[in-house]
Amino acid sequence: MAELTHLLAQRAHEVQASAIREICKLIAKPQIRSLAGGWPDPATFPVADLQRIATDIFQQKPALALQYTTSEGLPELREFLADWLGKKEGIHCTPDELLITHGFSQGMELTAKIFIEAGDVAFVGLPTYFGGSGACQTFGAELVGVELDADGMIPDLLEEKILAAKKAGKRPKLLYVIPDFQNPSGVTMPLARRQRLVELAQQHDLVIAEDSPYRDLRYSGEAVPPLMSLEPSGRVVYLKSFSKVFCPGFRLAVVVGDADVIRRMVIARQFEDCCTAAFGQYLLYEFCRQGLLDRQIKLNCAIYTRKRDCMLQALDQHMPTEVQWNRPDGGFFVFVHLPAGMDAEELLHEAVDHDVAFVAGAPFYVDGSGSQTLRLSFAQSEPAVIEAAVAELGALLKAKM
Ligand SMILES: Cc1ncc(COP(=O)(O)O)c(C=O)c1O
Repeated sequence: MAELTHLLAQRAHEVQASAIREICKLIAKPQIRSLAGGWPDPATFPVADLQRIATDIFQQKPALALQYTTSEGLPELREFLADWLGKKEGIHCTPDELLITHGFSQGMELTAKIFIEAGDVAFVGLPTYFGGSGACQTFGAELVGVELDADGMIPDLLEEKILAAKKAGKRPKLLYVIPDFQNPSGVTMPLARRQRLVELAQQHDLVIAEDSPYRDLRYSGEAVPPLMSLEPSGRVVYLKSFSKVFCPGFRLAVVVGDADVIRRMVIARQFEDCCTAAFGQYLLYEFCRQGLLDRQIKLNCAIYTRKRDCMLQALDQHMPTEVQWNRPDGGFFVFVHLPAGMDAEELLHEAVDHDVAFVAGAPFYVDGSGSQTLRLSFAQSEPAVIEAAVAELGALLKAKM
């Protein structure tokens, strides 16, 4: 095979492989008890409804559903979602301000593509989901991490880092946040903190990319308004994936933004994939139109509430007292802090030998810290498996201490 490394673009050298993809290789054993992947439980997939709807689509509109479609996305789906987002989330928008993409991943890539210039500074959580930070990095952003506490990103630290970037002659450009049940930390930002982040973005002229795939998966506590609803002037790009409440296999998300921003993304995607696959959009539209999305969200919440409770109970029961973790109100993840001096990557290798997997935290920290943290997902495995895997981890940790 030809050796082409010397021909690769710089960005192919710079962007790291996703830690999740790497871990998938490590945990390929069939007997593994996985607390690793942030994949939804397949038991939540609405197979029977999708089968019925797909049959109807094949019968009634095959010429449309199997054809290319508009780059913005199906007009009827955008109309439905504009209304749904207004009623449900206080995000008042028109269909012109919506774009249907192949998942959050594409929406974020388009956001970075139209806003990020090489050398711009993008602020991300410490820790954060690398799908968001990686997209910015691909277009040459310098990533600056901002520490989180139990309420999410700390605004005073963000301000400090914005000022430091300006002082160093750099251009602060974008703030990437996951306000609800953040990946990987599981934390949710209270209203005051969201307002403060919006103020900072206004004051320092930043674009906010608000990533919200877990927002509908709330199991306790009260919903907090999205940043987008607090900043209606168009500074926020809101990215809502359907991967966790519908199914990830169709790769569907909606991006909400200022009409001009959306128009520029539409133009940018014409050189990528032209449009989001029509068939999945028709399926999602019918699913929504028949009132099944809201029912699906309730069903998912019931399933994941049980799993979250099971994981928290198992942690209470089996973890040594020196280990700390949070109690998320929703989403998929519990984030664990090991005592100082312990290394989660080392623990992972030992855990895999005992048929247990999780994700070590370090890859979520753009500054290379986080080696004593790890992310546990309660989404994919059955409660009995969660309980057994946490017990095994607890035993391993007790033996190490
Ligand atoms: C915070 C966050 N954003 C986005 C995604 C992925 O969304 P999509 O499947 O739509 O690309 C994930 C998936 O793990 C996630 O955790």
